Amino acid sequence: MKLHFLSLLLLCSLRSFAAAPDSVYIFTYAIPQDTRKGLHIAYSVDGQTWTAIGQDQSFVSSDFGTWGREKQMIRPSVILDGDTWYAVWQLNNNTNQFATTLTKKLSVWKPQDYPYVSTSEVLSPVLSKADGQFVVTYKTKDGKTWQVKSRDFKTWTGAREVNDYRSNEVKAKVNGTEYDGCITRAPWTLIENLINRADATTLRNRQHGERMADDGNRFRDLKTVEANLSLRYSDAKAISPNLVGIFFEDISYAADGGLYAELLQNRDFEYNRLDRGEWNAQSFWHLDGDGTLWDIETVNPIHPNNKHYAVLNTTNVGAALVNDGHDGIVVRKGEKYNLTIFLKKLDGAGKVKVSIVNGSDVLAETTLSGAVDWKQCKAVLTAKADCDNARLAITPQQAGRIAVDFVSLFPQKTFKNRQNGLRPDLAQLLADMHPKFIRFPGGCVSHGQGLENMYRWIYTVGPLWERKQISNIWNYHQSMGLGFYEYFQFCEDIGAEPLPVLPAGVPCQNSSRGGHGQQGGLPFKGEDFKVKVTEDLPTMEEYLQELLNLIEWANGDPTTSKWAKMRADAGHPKPFNLKYLGVGNEDLISNVFAERFAFLNRGIKAKYPDIQVVGTVGPFFEGSDYEYGWQLARQENVDIVDEHYYVDPGWYIHNQDFYDKYDRNGTKVYLGEWASRNNKWENALVEALHLTNLERNADVVVMSSYAPLFCKDGHSNWNPDLIYFNNTGARPTPGYYVQKAFGVNNGVEYIPSDLTVRGNQDVRLRVNASIVKAENGDLIIKLVNLLPTSVNISADFGNLNGYDTQNAVWSTMTGKPGDGVVTPVEKTKAVETKMNTSMEPYSFTVIRIKKK
Ligand code: AHR
Repeated sequence: MKLHFLSLLLLCSLRSFAAAPDSVYIFTYAIPQDTRKGLHIAYSVDGQTWTAIGQDQSFVSSDFGTWGREKQMIRPSVILDGDTWYAVWQLNNNTNQFATTLTKKLSVWKPQDYPYVSTSEVLSPVLSKADGQFVVTYKTKDGKTWQVKSRDFKTWTGAREVNDYRSNEVKAKVNGTEYDGCITRAPWTLIENLINRADATTLRNRQHGERMADDGNRFRDLKTVEANLSLRYSDAKAISPNLVGIFFEDISYAADGGLYAELLQNRDFEYNRLDRGEWNAQSFWHLDGDGTLWDIETVNPIHPNNKHYAVLNTTNVGAALVNDGHDGIVVRKGEKYNLTIFLKKLDGAGKVKVSIVNGSDVLAETTLSGAVDWKQCKAVLTAKADCDNARLAITPQQAGRIAVDFVSLFPQKTFKNRQNGLRPDLAQLLADMHPKFIRFPGGCVSHGQGLENMYRWIYTVGPLWERKQISNIWNYHQSMGLGFYEYFQFCEDIGAEPLPVLPAGVPCQNSSRGGHGQQGGLPFKGEDFKVKVTEDLPTMEEYLQELLNLIEWANGDPTTSKWAKMRADAGHPKPFNLKYLGVGNEDLISNVFAERFAFLNRGIKAKYPDIQVVGTVGPFFEGSDYEYGWQLARQENVDIVDEHYYVDPGWYIHNQDFYDKYDRNGTKVYLGEWASRNNKWENALVEALHLTNLERNADVVVMSSYAPLFCKDGHSNWNPDLIYFNNTGARPTPGYYVQKAFGVNNGVEYIPSDLTVRGNQDVRLRVNASIVKAENGDLIIKLVNLLPTSVNISADFGNLNGYDTQNAVWSTMTGKPGDGVVTPVEKTKAVETKMNTSMEPYSFTVIRIKKK
């Protein structure tokens, strides 16, 4: 308390007197008890009494390794060279890497890099500069001391053993606790700036923490609010017609067991422990009955990409191999189901009965026979009764050994009756949103866990049993049944632009597999992999070609392009008309990333200048990935960057001008992932508010998509989501209806308006309007009221000649902030040029006035 008071005094005196020093000492340190907390900074005028900047504030924390405990900053060693601070630190006790970063302003530290060294581990690295070179001296567990050097702080020499280890750490007491750290000097202006930022952070955190639960107090005396709205048609501007789309990622069982209509799980015995520790090729299958044994074999599989198959060895006929489906199998009376199964006689026994069963009831059945070589057998099963929890049973009909693989049970009724298609109810919910684009397949699924787990589009097309399946970063399996062909087809089916997002040649920076972090990315020709990889991976040059091949596959002419011919052979001779290609997802903007992204972006634009490349600027609306991601985007003249933020409701209320400040002529924005951290009506309301602000800025923000989209009950990787579902139905959230309202009522032209709301700043921030003209000329007015009271609007809609003013469609959503179910109520009501209307408390209204 005393120290805090003293610090305050010192701060006040430094801030208010002209005699503030030119520079002060700064002490940079980490908290040894919690190394995840990153780098702290304290300052001192005399080098004796130290004041921490901010409350427990970290200015940079380690981004190495998996989320949580892995991200450690151990013993940061910081030096000042010219006007730049350079830092290195230890990452853990067993990695042959250390971390580097640098800054000029102390507030934003340059993206981190993790150079590899030629010894087994790096302990207590000390940074110094000698003869124009950066020197890192460190220890290994055997007590030896090593040195690596760099001229540019990027490329480091091999490790050389040395005798001399001198730490640059000193001890200093901050807030009563003694820490080890480094002392340098900094201009007072920089420190003052840091202090102001720390103060601003405190205020900002308070604003972002504002919740509607406190409205009773915040708006204690508030009565009905009066407002005026008038439209400024003469200032209309063109906006993106693609503002609202969807982001589909296979997270929380969104694909297998979800949108992808396959009813069986682990249909081709490819599940394994990389998917989930306790899984193997037999998971979700079991033997029911006696007289048969079963095992997994891999010799002469149906395809090298589909190595595992089951062998049933029957002595007494009667037992069945049973698949549990995804939490059971749902069938409906009279519906038809396509059965596919590969069978191979191993010693003469080739006949099996395949049945859909509900306990001992048989709902449908067929008998099939294998051959001496793998034989694809097909049948159509018609269910005799409804069942939500059926199983598929394969019963050998003869004694002997038979091999079984790729067993698929697929409803004929899919969305648009596509083969290998999608669950109609879930797909329809998406179609109903009128999304202008679909981003797929991730998210984190794109960059994957470690180099070998990166999503490679090429392995997701072609016959289902030839697709290369990989584990899902969300801790389950990707059958790839829903692959690029199916994604593109779905986009076409619902009139949405396809937006594939593929890795930038680097896996997730949080990878835990095969070494940590980015693992150095794919090497350029002639370079080595930084970590051991177990299969052939492409060089960056080959990988660029893989991305170019995708464009050819999607858009090319089948008569001249082998890639386009693959598409045509799969059933789609016409081009898919791909316009966008995402490269990278939320990557750490390190040198490793920047080099690879620039290479891919340039390569794509050189061959296909019309393809819009979508880059990435990290997972937050600020910070080093955001700053340096944007810097890289500007430098490389990137068409669009993908911003992400998952923030509290208060953020949306207090950052309504976020995009008003963006450059109108540079790189455009795709707000690819965003949400407000719960799915109550309060959240949907602030999302509606944000969307009105996005519409105003839709000359810069050209696309947006809520994330994540789907979550299957009992399989959640992430909360909140837009749509929850189980095997028989779905529960769209209030946020779903808000997104849908903006998708259905999208504009091509924005009509600015003057909205005057009488009340204080808190009141004014909670009412908004957005007016757009749709492509067919309809006028659409969206009104959001986040207040607990009604708002009376005196509106001047201007000249409505040419509109069907008698039959405007008013769609209103309203509820209590904590409500979990809120749906729109629609009515037809006249509008007039000048009219009074009332916005209900906590409401979102869309008025659509049809063009005659
Ligand atoms: O939307 C869920 C995840 O959030 C995405 O996979 C990833 O990009 C982000 O971190």
